[in-house]
Amino acid sequence: MGMMIAPVRKAVFPAAGLGTRFLPATKAMPKEMLPLVDKPLIQYGIEEAIASGLRNIVIVTGRGKTAIEDHFDVSFELEHLLELRGRTETLEAVRAISDMIDVAYVRQKEALGLGHAVLRAKELVGVESFAVVLSDDVIDADVPCLRQLLGVYEFYGASVLALMEVPREQISAYGVVAAEPRPHEDMDGRVFRIHDLVEKPPPDDAPSNLAIIGRYILTPEIFTAIESTPPGRNNEIQLTDALRILLKNRPIYGVKFDGKRFDAGDKLGFLQATVEFALKRSDLGQAFRSYLASLGLC
Ligand code: G1P
Repeated sequence: MGMMIAPVRKAVFPAAGLGTRFLPATKAMPKEMLPLVDKPLIQYGIEEAIASGLRNIVIVTGRGKTAIEDHFDVSFELEHLLELRGRTETLEAVRAISDMIDVAYVRQKEALGLGHAVLRAKELVGVESFAVVLSDDVIDADVPCLRQLLGVYEFYGASVLALMEVPREQISAYGVVAAEPRPHEDMDGRVFRIHDLVEKPPPDDAPSNLAIIGRYILTPEIFTAIESTPPGRNNEIQLTDALRILLKNRPIYGVKFDGKRFDAGDKLGFLQATVEFALKRSDLGQAFRSYLASLGLC
């Protein structure tokens, strides 16, 4: 297209939700810190951002923010102890966390919705396009999901959302789009131009079976759109509603990404992710597989 599109550098992680679906585990700890095998949920998202070329991380925190901050900080005591004990591999894993990112925190005092959380990052993001990652959605993919969205962003210079087909009976748990496929280079059939969006519609009102999954590339005009978004579903400022306002002035695209998504914000989804990630691990996979076989489930 010959247009100069500024690279995306920043990824915003809303992490101020109350985590009510995981109580009592989330009473004193943010749900983003729940571990899948041995890494907290939010770290999977951050590693995806890094693998997609985004190094500036903005975490929007609420209650229990210290656990998240400490996790991405240097822990001198821990590193010293691991060094003394000669636990080189663990030491490297622990160091990699604090080495890998440049992280900034901003506070969302009240859980007033996803749109409201994203708006809290306005000053830190500035006038540039950025990514939003919802840590609940854990995506296992050969090409990181954010990278797939960035490819489409780099082509159109417009906002891009991750999309997934979901069964009708589950559609009311999601933001849903009305969209039309766009022919697109090597991603034919997976890129869509979005015509409308609705947050968690009753199944009969859903414009399609294409749900929004928690990965977004947003142009900075989204902030003004959020500012003029009234409370919607659950009386919260919804990002989907703000996107609908943005759509009046700017095109929005969607990508039916390639990869497997787990809803780790749901107990069953969390267990599924745990089992599949454990089976993939070189240090655990075999032993875990024989254990599962010993249960004689099938
Ligand atoms: C949020 C968004 C929704 C989106 C979903 C994806 O909802 O509001 O549009 O479909 O994430 O996981 P939540 O699941 O936080 O209620």
